[in-house]
Amino acid sequence: MLPAVPSQYRQIFLRQRPDGIPQPEHFGIRTVPMPELSEGQFLVRNHYLSVDPAMRGWVSAVGNYSTPVPLGAVMPSYASGEIVLSHHPDYEVGSRVMGMLGWQEFAVCNGSEIKRRIQDKDEPLSLSLGILGLNGFTAYFGLIDIGAPKDGDVVVVSTAAGAVGSAVGQIAKIKGCRVIGIAGGAEKVRWCKDIGFDDAVDYKRAGFSSQLAALCPNGVNVFFDNTCGAISDAVMPLLANGASVVVCGTASVSSWTPWPMGPRVERHLLVKRARMQGFLAMDYEHRYNEAVICLKNWLYKGRLKHREDILDGLEGAPGSIRDLYRGDNAGKRLIRLVA
Ligand SMILES: NC(=O)c1ccc[n+]([C@@H]2O[C@H](COP(=O)([O-])OP(=O)(O)OC[C@H]3O[C@@H](n4cnc5c(N)ncnc54)[C@H](OP(=O)(O)O)[C@@H]3O)[C@@H](O)[C@H]2O)c1
Repeated sequence: MLPAVPSQYRQIFLRQRPDGIPQPEHFGIRTVPMPELSEGQFLVRNHYLSVDPAMRGWVSAVGNYSTPVPLGAVMPSYASGEIVLSHHPDYEVGSRVMGMLGWQEFAVCNGSEIKRRIQDKDEPLSLSLGILGLNGFTAYFGLIDIGAPKDGDVVVVSTAAGAVGSAVGQIAKIKGCRVIGIAGGAEKVRWCKDIGFDDAVDYKRAGFSSQLAALCPNGVNVFFDNTCGAISDAVMPLLANGASVVVCGTASVSSWTPWPMGPRVERHLLVKRARMQGFLAMDYEHRYNEAVICLKNWLYKGRLKHREDILDGLEGAPGSIRDLYRGDNAGKRLIRLVA
């Protein structure tokens, strides 16, 4: 039975615009009255909130691909939950959805926020935010469409023990590649090997660059870059002829002001006839169903492993982006609101 809808609920809002990585003090928590639904609206009770490195970009005014989140607004985020009230003909009470529902306990929706309906009753809602959500889609489209590895290729992936990176490495294995992961710390390196990477290196240890070079004697055919910075600097000279570099994330850059400077990559691209391409998973929304079918099939057959790192309660949200940039998460970081 669905719980009664309360007369008020809590939200996390953007209190101050961070310069760099958002810290807990940049957010506030407030209680608001539950609004009356209009015709065409429905109410979702959020069960899980997603925490994504990209949220740093959403609140920043620099180098962004969307309008910066206004001060005072509910922090936008992916979330998944259950519809508890509906005045919308296409969204029934009791159905489960994932979308841009925000860091809040309830979300009033009109349908435009919804990215996926979760029709399989056995599918845990948390999966729709990780391996069967943005992280899985990013790995799937970024590797298959942009990286386009061939059987036997050497694929190197950074943030390899994270939600996106771990899926990239395993999909590359499914595609017949040799996979080297780059991660921070011995536990993460071990986990990459446990889930089937051919090898993994700890970028925090001395000698990281030479260790990586020794593992790729014939070069790197596909580099799935989630960090930019010093890690990428170590990989670029190792590119093989005709390599592809997938620019997926910039996790190592702590601030875009002043604009960071680094080594020039053009010579590597020129000499190796290599291609470097950025991409956003959200551009593939029209193909999410294709990815869900494929990822689910691999997941249920045990070919794709994942792990979730769950914090209980809305209070955990304000510090959770900072935690990602400290590498504190072991897998997909989620905030659970409903046990
Ligand atoms: N293009 C897209 O559409 C898209 C969509 C989703 C995600 N992404 C990108 O994919 C990457 C991974 O995202 P995710 O959601 O799967 O997060 P995640 O990998 O689960 O968590 C972030 C990880 O980043 C690593 N990290 C943090 N600071 C770092 C630094 N200074 N240098 C190197 N590594 C650092 C940490 O791993 P270690 O402990 O190993 O350092 C941390 O665990 C991010 O760059 C994100 O922006 C892109």
